[in-house]
Amino acid sequence: MSQRNVLKENLAESARVLRERIGDRRPEVGMILGSGLGPLAGQIEDAVCVPYGEVPHMRTSTATSHVGRFVCGVLGGKCVLAMQGRLHGYEGNTAQEVAYPVWLMHELGVDTLFATNAAGAINESYRVGDFCIIEDHINFTGRNPVAGLEPDGIAFRFFSMLDAYDPALRRLARETADELGISYQEGVYLGFMGPCYETVAEIRAFAGVGADAVGMSTVPETMVCNYLGMKVLAVSCITN
Ligand code: HPA
Repeated sequence: MSQRNVLKENLAESARVLRERIGDRRPEVGMILGSGLGPLAGQIEDAVCVPYGEVPHMRTSTATSHVGRFVCGVLGGKCVLAMQGRLHGYEGNTAQEVAYPVWLMHELGVDTLFATNAAGAINESYRVGDFCIIEDHINFTGRNPVAGLEPDGIAFRFFSMLDAYDPALRRLARETADELGISYQEGVYLGFMGPCYETVAEIRAFAGVGADAVGMSTVPETMVCNYLGMKVLAVSCITN
C-alpha cells in the first residue's frame, strides 16, 4: 500500500476513536501546549481528556512536563482540541509521527493551530521570559513530515511555505498583547533536532543565517499545517 493510503487509513482509525471519546464536541482550533504551558489545559471547560496511548497510531510523549494527552473542550468561547504535551524528533519519532496529531486535528475539522514552545535566544536583545511571536522559521532538522507521501492528484507533492505563520493571526496576537500590556518580540525560529543544545559555533552560525531563537519543536507541525491549508500561530517563551 502507498504511504499516503497507510496514512489515510491510520487517520481514519485514530479519528474514529477520538470522535467516540469527544462526543458531540466539534473542535475548531487546535492547540499544542509545549514546555511550561501544559497547565493551561486546566482552564478548558467541559473537558474530556484522552491520553495519546489510547488513540491508535499516536506516539506517546516521553519528555518531562509533557503530560501526553488530548484535552477537548471550550476555551475563550471556542471548542479547542489541545495537546497537553507534544511529540519531538529527539524522542525518536519521525517528523511524520511528530506531526501526526496535526493531521488528526484536521481530520476532526480543525482549521487553525495555536502552538507554543520554549526556545533559546539567538538574538542578543532577547531576554529570558520574553514571548516571541514566530514570524517565520528555518528548518535545520533536515526532515520533512510530508516526505514520502505520493502525490495523488488532489494533494500535490510541492507546497508553499510563504507566510507559513499566518500574518492575520500574528497581527491579532500583536494587537491583543498591546491591549493587555504584554511586551513581545517577533522573530525567526530555527528548528534544531536536539536533544543536545547548540554549540557556541552553532549559535554564532544561526545568528548569521537570520535566526532569532532556536528550539526543538514546532517546525514539523507547521509544515503539515501549510500542506493541509491550516492557519498557524506560534509563540515561543524564551527560556535561556
Ligand atoms: N536550544 C534548543 N531548544 C531549546 C532551547 C535552546 O537553547 N531552550 C529551550 N528549548
